[in-house]
Amino acid sequence: MELPGTAIAAEGVERRFGDLVAVDRVDIAVRAGEIYGFLGPNGAGKSTLTRVLCTLLRPTSGRATVAGHDVATEADQVRLRVGVALQEAALDDRQTGAEMLALQGRFYGLTRAATRARVAELTDLVDIGSALGRRVGTYSGGMKRRLDLALALVHDPEVLFLDEPTTGLDPVSRSRIWEEVRRLNKELGMTVFLTTQYLEEADELSDRVGIINRGRLVAEGTPESLKRAIGTDVVVVRVEGPVEDARRAVRSLDVVRRVDTSGGTLTVSVSDGPSAISPMAVALSRVPGVTVQELSLRRPSLEDVFLSATGERMAGRRLDAEASRGAEGGRPDTEAS
Ligand SMILES: Nc1ncnc2c1ncn2[C@@H]1O[C@H](COP(=O)(O)OP(=O)(O)OP(=O)(O)O)[C@@H](O)[C@H]1O
Ligand SMILES: [Mg+2]
Repeated sequence: MELPGTAIAAEGVERRFGDLVAVDRVDIAVRAGEIYGFLGPNGAGKSTLTRVLCTLLRPTSGRATVAGHDVATEADQVRLRVGVALQEAALDDRQTGAEMLALQGRFYGLTRAATRARVAELTDLVDIGSALGRRVGTYSGGMKRRLDLALALVHDPEVLFLDEPTTGLDPVSRSRIWEEVRRLNKELGMTVFLTTQYLEEADELSDRVGIINRGRLVAEGTPESLKRAIGTDVVVVRVEGPVEDARRAVRSLDVVRRVDTSGGTLTVSVSDGPSAISPMAVALSRVPGVTVQELSLRRPSLEDVFLSATGERMAGRRLDAEASRGAEGGRPDTEAS
């Protein structure tokens, strides 16, 4: 049984699709009022666990309670208490935002007047006011996400599930969603379970982060504690010439714990960054054919946490990289009506 004040408790939750184990015996406890970031690469099992927790999929085995009710045996009780914005928002382009919100209100049994009052509150919380009278088909990607968020909030849920709320959005739309999530959490004390592939998003928003890979929870803690637990600094070296020789030279130094190479870049974990830099530069200068283009020290990131927990990289899911490629969210996020 979960402790009082626990909003989400998963115990040994497993979900299979045929032979595929999408979620593999996951234990998670999220406190009421917490923002829990669920971070993992494509296909890791984030959406599957989210669907299990909001009763859209039954667990194959294990048990989970959300807002005090069992997701398998008390699904109706859970549904009344959770708001869900799924990865693929199911919006009707032909309806206006206001119509969709009204329909959602009726679905949860709110009277017309109560729905109207709630929609007025929501337009303060979620910045969609001026667009409500327009058909959803005219919305930008960011506005659709915010409408979807408002729809998830109509019945004033205790626990909000957001499945990749900012994927494909431009940086401005993304930071607006971040602000709204923070506000819901701070002002209303709403518990938020947020999946993301973006390391920065998890780092920025979450009180605690769970990292999932191939269905398994591989690390969990506050972003700070996870980074600290790695117990290392990171030196990034860009070299020209024989990378494997450079790697071997760096690896042979006592201070070096681990070296990962990607193209001409060595990512080096060291116990003490500042004191490792000059021996590293000296060692590299002795390797025939190798020239150092750049050598810099940085604090560990959640990427390093992922790498150290799984031995793999999270495959290029960085906001800066995406921003420079341009947003995928379609139309610019303007609100001219
Ligand atoms: N309905 C389904 N039937 C069969 N396999 C599925 C189904 N849903 C998900 N899977 C598989 O389960 C695994 C986990 O998928 P899931 O959608 O949970 O990953 P995810 O972490 O949400 O990934 P993404 O970041 O791409 O959204 C994947 O291998 C996926 O192909
Ligand atoms: Mg998903």
